[in-house]
Amino acid sequence: MFLKEIKLTNFRNYENLSLVFHPGINIIYGQNAQGKTNLLESIYVLGLTKSHRSFIDHNLIKENKDFARIEGKLTIDHFDTKMELLLETKKKKLKIDSDVVGKVSDYVSKMNIIIFYPEDLDLLKGAPGIRRRYLNMELCQLYSNYLNLLNDYNKLLKIRNELLKKRMKEEVVDSNYFHIVTTYFIDKGVSIYRMRKNFIDRLNAISPEIYETITGMKGFHLEYRPCFEITSFEKEFLKQQFIEKLQNMEKVELKLGTTMVGPHRDDFEFYLAERNLKVYGSQGQQRVAILALKLAEIDIFTACRGTTPILLLDDVFSELDDKKKNNLLKYIDQNIQTIITTTDLDSIDESLKKQSKLIEIDHAEIMQIEEVE
Ligand SMILES: Nc1ncnc2c1ncn2[C@@H]1O[C@H](COP(=O)(O)OP(=O)(O)OP(=O)(O)O)[C@@H](O)[C@H]1O
Ligand SMILES: [Mg+2]
Repeated sequence: MFLKEIKLTNFRNYENLSLVFHPGINIIYGQNAQGKTNLLESIYVLGLTKSHRSFIDHNLIKENKDFARIEGKLTIDHFDTKMELLLETKKKKLKIDSDVVGKVSDYVSKMNIIIFYPEDLDLLKGAPGIRRRYLNMELCQLYSNYLNLLNDYNKLLKIRNELLKKRMKEEVVDSNYFHIVTTYFIDKGVSIYRMRKNFIDRLNAISPEIYETITGMKGFHLEYRPCFEITSFEKEFLKQQFIEKLQNMEKVELKLGTTMVGPHRDDFEFYLAERNLKVYGSQGQQRVAILALKLAEIDIFTACRGTTPILLLDDVFSELDDKKKNNLLKYIDQNIQTIITTTDLDSIDESLKKQSKLIEIDHAEIMQIEEVE
């Protein structure tokens, strides 16, 4: 798939922007604070309805305006689809081909986006919640039922926690009801565990080779870390283990009034052979680890959806040495729409530039465009 064009109204520092992209490689360049990242962010928000860098939607609306609109024309297998997202201070409206879409899950699985950006290092270094959010964002693009599953799980978790709190305070709770909630909670939890495990396994099948190609080092992999040791992800077996773990934790749960076991406590870690990259990795190694993860997703998305995703690379070349930069180029090709930002066009490989549409941004306006030769 590729994004043919985008139109922005009052998004971040853009008042009005209309831009046509190349189906292959696009390079957005300009000085700091001109709107390069904002432009990539608008593409991400158009596809996923949320920003990768702001939890607060209101920040996306241009200062002193009361709405923002992003419109895009997406081409999948020669068919065009119009995507539209309207952001108002307190509500969001989604449209596909001018029809209002009520269910977010139907919308977010339409456009597939993989983004790499500088603050992505938090994915490796930050709190487990950041990694769970990442898994959720990717899985809801891949599987249209994942978001519903996650919403159901979170609702059941909330109810279960409320019931546990009541029991903690020795208030009366219908034990039958608690049991039913727990049963559903386990069912949904098992499905989430299995989908996350499958995704991580698929990343592990591809990312070590990418890491090695870029750095020459072997042994890169991820380790899935659910909050208890799962010895098999076979459905019934896992269910049984989950039940037993909850039984073991019953006293603690009643004491704390909260659910201690389940995918809401998941995590995963990055390793280079035996070394945990969070503890031992250099900044460069950590950056390439994230990059290897994101590039591995291209194959997973393509296999799952039957079409290539859109790759957004924000400032990817800074902080990589020349050798790694060159090795990275092997993964950028015309067959996957790629949108790259940089402050320094001169530092970009000449042959990559020749194959790319070059777009200069200055104060949220397009200054210059050079089409592919
Ligand atoms: N809601 C908003 N309304 C108006 N301007 C905004 C809004 N949000 C951010 N900006 C402005 O957008 C600019 C930053 O744009 P952006 O992050 O896209 O820069 P950039 O071109 O990627 O720069 P760099 O090279 O430093 O990464 C800043 O000047 C910031 O003040
Ligand atoms: Mg930027």
